[in-house]
Amino acid sequence: MIFVLSKNLKPGMKLARDIWGKNSFLPLVCAGSKLTQRSINNFITRDIIGAYIEFEGSEDVKIKELFPMEVKVRVTSEIKRIFQSLLLEKGRSFQNIKALNHVADYIVEVISENDECMMNVIDIKNYNEYSYVHSMQVSIICVLMGKKLKFSNLKLKDIAIAGLLHDLGKTFIPLEILDKEGPLTEDEFAIMKQHPNLAISKLSSCKTLSKVILDGINQHHEKMDGTGYPHNLRSDQISEFGKIIAIADVYDALTTDRSYRPAWDAHKAINYMISCADSHFDVYYLNAFLSTVAAYPIGVLVRLNIGLDAVVVDSNEGLPLNPTIKILTQGEHFGKIINLANDRDALTIQIIDIIKDENSLKEILNQ
Ligand SMILES: [Fe+2]
Repeated sequence: MIFVLSKNLKPGMKLARDIWGKNSFLPLVCAGSKLTQRSINNFITRDIIGAYIEFEGSEDVKIKELFPMEVKVRVTSEIKRIFQSLLLEKGRSFQNIKALNHVADYIVEVISENDECMMNVIDIKNYNEYSYVHSMQVSIICVLMGKKLKFSNLKLKDIAIAGLLHDLGKTFIPLEILDKEGPLTEDEFAIMKQHPNLAISKLSSCKTLSKVILDGINQHHEKMDGTGYPHNLRSDQISEFGKIIAIADVYDALTTDRSYRPAWDAHKAINYMISCADSHFDVYYLNAFLSTVAAYPIGVLVRLNIGLDAVVVDSNEGLPLNPTIKILTQGEHFGKIINLANDRDALTIQIIDIIKDENSLKEILNQ
């Protein structure tokens, strides 16, 4: 299968994976269906970025998915229910933290029992439920990083909970600031910067949440150089959980459509984050992150610096910018599989871009 942007889809193409809408509880179109112009128009209207389609020569491209979309939709609606109930809870009872524990248990169980430990799929993210999807995604990335760092299952559960709750304080920020299109004024940003403290005010009386979890939530916007908020902490003053959540939070935010900018491709977000190593992120934890995320997800079409086009067929842990690819350009190299991380004769081969234009795609499909 290959991933094709919605604008380049054509009637008759066969879907290799279900297509989910941004607000749907069931797939819009199921795997195996042939696309019609109407369904393609529907994807474009709904801002669906693209679809995985079947393509001769890419049968060996198989996506290894930790959390299928239907599971993510279920988990997101459970998080939404818990958050809304949690905000109504007073005193020290926090019955909803117990429910949140179940979600954390589930995320940890799936990740710790699965050999696959990378985020490798281009997902449709539900924009209107951004805060709940974001909580789930951050929690999943945190647990993947924790697994890489050989955390115990107990510690994985703590980081899962901290990831789920990290932005709870945003529910106390006025919507006109939270959803504002365009930059915030100084006063608005000052209010926004309070969200880590607001979460702690709400949660600090909950005895089942440890200091480690609360510190992680409170410190997820701190930066290594001391320019973060709310406490301007520096490197060693920031807790391990604070550093991990900061990385997961920025990555998920950058790769999601927001009201003020479209989602960045994974490789652009990863390159940006590498450029912020040391000043924003702790390099030790950033390296763990780089082992959990694929800059070029499986199925994506890429152009190489040697003038050939290829499809990504596998990822290489720790080297997100160097996946394994299969050449799709006709000629002597067609079908050749190259591991950009390990193959000695591929040391000078690099991905220079993701193929997005219709003509290049036509060339690949029509050959
Ligand atoms: Fe935040």
